[in-house]
Amino acid sequence: MAPYMPILLITCTVNAAKKPSPTVANSPASVSSASEPSTTVTINGKTMVYPPLDTTPDPNDPVVQEYIKGLNLSSVPNLPRSNGGVPNHLQPTCNSSTQLDPDQGSWTCQKHTASDDIQECPTVGNWGVTYDDGPSESTPQLLDTLDECNLKATFFVVGSRAVSNPGILADAYKRGHNIAVHTWSHPALTSLSNEQVIAELYWTVKAIKDVCGVTPIYYRPPFGDTDNRVRAITRAMGLKTVLWIPTFDSNDWKLVATPPEKDDVVINTFNNWTQIFPTMSTGFIVLQHDLYPQTVAAAIKVLKLAVKVKGLNMTTVPQCVGDTKPYLEVGGSPGQY
Ligand SMILES: *[C@@H]1O[C@H](CO)[C@@H](O)[C@H](O)[C@H]1NC(C)=O
Ligand SMILES: *[C@@H]1O[C@H](CO)[C@@H](O)[C@H](O)[C@H]1NC(C)=O
Ligand SMILES: *[C@@H]1O[C@H](CO)[C@@H](O)[C@H](O)[C@H]1NC(C)=O
Ligand SMILES: *[C@@H]1O[C@H](CO)[C@@H](O)[C@H](O)[C@H]1NC(C)=O
Ligand SMILES: [Zn+2]
Repeated sequence: MAPYMPILLITCTVNAAKKPSPTVANSPASVSSASEPSTTVTINGKTMVYPPLDTTPDPNDPVVQEYIKGLNLSSVPNLPRSNGGVPNHLQPTCNSSTQLDPDQGSWTCQKHTASDDIQECPTVGNWGVTYDDGPSESTPQLLDTLDECNLKATFFVVGSRAVSNPGILADAYKRGHNIAVHTWSHPALTSLSNEQVIAELYWTVKAIKDVCGVTPIYYRPPFGDTDNRVRAITRAMGLKTVLWIPTFDSNDWKLVATPPEKDDVVINTFNNWTQIFPTMSTGFIVLQHDLYPQTVAAAIKVLKLAVKVKGLNMTTVPQCVGDTKPYLEVGGSPGQY
């Protein structure tokens, strides 16, 4: 925590009220080991049982099978799985071993987007602010800065992190941020079977619903790894695919790569964005992360620079695309929704 404290001395707005630290009201997830069949967590006073953390949930679970029965999957094309059909939790690569057809709409291989994929905001200067892979213990620091800057963001949460840090997730939601789906265990979705994709997303939607009380609609595939098969599945589940414009990858993942780069890489990338955005015909959606102290520290620096840049308008993804109902439940969200 200490190395990054000085940047908090720069305030975003005059007279910004300092919010009290969020409290983690719920007990953390039980430590799961390979032999444990499930994860038991107390959420809002109720004991909830989830699949093991950080691994693809079993699609043969009766709960998942019952859910699948309610889906119309007739539009899902029969296309090859990437990575030779071996589930892959690492950054997917596009080489012969992925065995993806050139025309199957891969984002990883061809940066193909479907007409209903969201990777930009329609209005020049509008920035869809997103943070992926949390909630983590560093997330509250980011939430405080967003409050100081009077900004709202979209958080693409990993189900395993959501049930590990339910109090932090509930706090993010209560502060008016948009909570969205980023799978249970962060796999490359195109490497999974149809039913495994559904199990990954089902449990993440459920975790968010259990913690926040609303059903999320927006979803981002880990690594942006989607194709026409995964798109058809997520459409059938009522989820909207959100990607990012490749130039607007913040490079914050390089801060935790081996060997790690310095914050400068993120700041330089941000400075590039400020040069590019006025020349574009649309706004943009970015890639940033709230999983690690290093990426959160960089995100805070970026926010404090960004609020001073004229012409930038930072909002959640649903807000920037003009959607006032980012959850299934009408009126389910407090504040502006
Ligand atoms: C499932 O979807 C297909 C294609 O959209 C449609 O033609 C069919 O009527 C649907 N089936 C059911 C049971 O709703
Ligand atoms: C090809 O992709 C596979 C699966 O992602 C990876 O394990 C392998 O190292 C890649 N090979 C090359 C030459 O990049
Ligand atoms: C910033 O833009 C310059 C010029 O386009 C490019 O050479 C450089 O690699 C970019 N830096 C980053 C960190 O994206
Ligand atoms: C920023 O974008 C949002 C969403 O598109 C819009 O409602 C708002 O009016 C914009 N604010 C400014 C200052 O342009
Ligand atoms: Zn991710």
